[in-house]
Amino acid sequence: TVHNKTIIISNRLPVKITEHNGEYRLRPSEGGLATGLGSVYKRGNNVWIGWPGIEVPEDRQDEVRQKLAEFNLIPVFLTNEEISLYYEGFSNEVLWPIFHYLTTYANFEQTYWDSYKSVNEKFRDTVIQNINDGDTIWVHDYQLLLLPCLVRTERPAVTIGFFQHIPFPSYEILRVIPWREEIISGMLGADLLGFHTFDDVKHFLSAVSMLSSSKQSENIIMHKNRQIVVESFPMGIDYQKFESLTRHEKVAKHTANFKESHQNTKIMLSIDRLDYSKGILQRLQALELLLQMHPEYIDKISLFMIVVPSRDTVPKYKELRDQIDQLVGNINSRFRTLNWVPIHYFYRSFSVEFLSALYSIADICIVTPMRDGMNLVSKEYVASRTKNDGVLILSEMAGASKELNDALIVNPNNIGDVMRAINRAINMPPDEQNTRMTSMRHIVKKFDINLWVKNFMDKLLEVKEIQQSLL
Ligand code: UDP
Ligand code: G6P
Repeated sequence: TVHNKTIIISNRLPVKITEHNGEYRLRPSEGGLATGLGSVYKRGNNVWIGWPGIEVPEDRQDEVRQKLAEFNLIPVFLTNEEISLYYEGFSNEVLWPIFHYLTTYANFEQTYWDSYKSVNEKFRDTVIQNINDGDTIWVHDYQLLLLPCLVRTERPAVTIGFFQHIPFPSYEILRVIPWREEIISGMLGADLLGFHTFDDVKHFLSAVSMLSSSKQSENIIMHKNRQIVVESFPMGIDYQKFESLTRHEKVAKHTANFKESHQNTKIMLSIDRLDYSKGILQRLQALELLLQMHPEYIDKISLFMIVVPSRDTVPKYKELRDQIDQLVGNINSRFRTLNWVPIHYFYRSFSVEFLSALYSIADICIVTPMRDGMNLVSKEYVASRTKNDGVLILSEMAGASKELNDALIVNPNNIGDVMRAINRAINMPPDEQNTRMTSMRHIVKKFDINLWVKNFMDKLLEVKEIQQSLL
């Protein structure tokens, strides 16, 4: 049998180009989409189409194309204008805030939308150039909502899956977007639409019923004589990788260094991209409140806060960075002692080995997004706790909270509640840590990234077979 390939398409490739004195280098991309799918796409004969992260002048595009081809990656080049209007503009100043329920953060510029459409068409052209009959197309995330329909129009019979990595908002939020109808019909070009949680599925189905004339029964939509299925597929991580990383030589070295310099302090860890959806300020406020109400913890607990630079050309992100700098500065200067600071703040990215060491040494991992599609950091922490100890504090607004019931679940808006959760985490008896962590590890291990891909692909195949049988 001939094995047809799967074409993964996302705005961002799993690697990005950085420039050093005119020389291009490839570095791993940050974010859950890239890290999650990064380890699976290499298996089998798959290709990944996406943007390499910076503007590449025309005379260097061939060089980049060749470099990426070695890894089965196919670039879509964006001009600086497209980066500004489509990526920073429509994707991250309209869709991102709205889909995370921050309607007042959105900027509805007509030029953003125009560029969003034309860049989705650009992606379509690259897809069409690289597709053969029988290939499967898997489109990812909110930057490419129009792509399924654009490809469908050119190739009516092709198999198209779509997965959205961020929340899908309730209709009352979605309707704020002037171009909501086009967005929904763009998505309906897919045969299977996947979301992280059942709530996202419900919201999407209700948006479809409000904005299109298609018939629905349960999670099946009849659209232009094609049967489309909508389902939840909670994304997992590469459990094996994170578990075995803890035994890596480099990781052990980092871990040993840490242990020595932080012997009598509880270590609390947080890792996020710099993003207002992550609740970074609220988390800092909770720590501040803890130190104020419980001065006995001064000298006894430190937060390692990793903030990975992200979208720093978008104004709201710049603002947040300043606010974080300020709040960290205030808290540290207010509570620090000669030999101790409450917050070790890093504004940079780290190697996966270093991250693994952090996960291993952290007594507590605190994940408090205001909204998050899934949140893979919480799962990576769990996978790294090979001794079944440690405490995860997790926001109920993260998709992961639906699976990781044994975390200390908090409402991130309730600073007092978060503070109490930290207090409880500090004092949690080893037995209870073990019970909770063991059960979470079972879940993260079982529903890993491989099963996620398999479930999605199996379903997509099934949907296609049912479509054929209805013809
Ligand atoms: N991450 C990374 N480099 C870093 C810090 C974190 O690549 O320096 C990864 C982290 O391991 C995780 C991802 O970024 O896999 C973040 O995914 P998550 O789902 O938590 O949030 P997202 O950034 O996708 O909103
Ligand atoms: C989230 C989104 C991804 C995105 C990532 C990093 O995980 O779901 O689509 O790639 O953040 O953001 P960036 O804008 O740098 O691609």
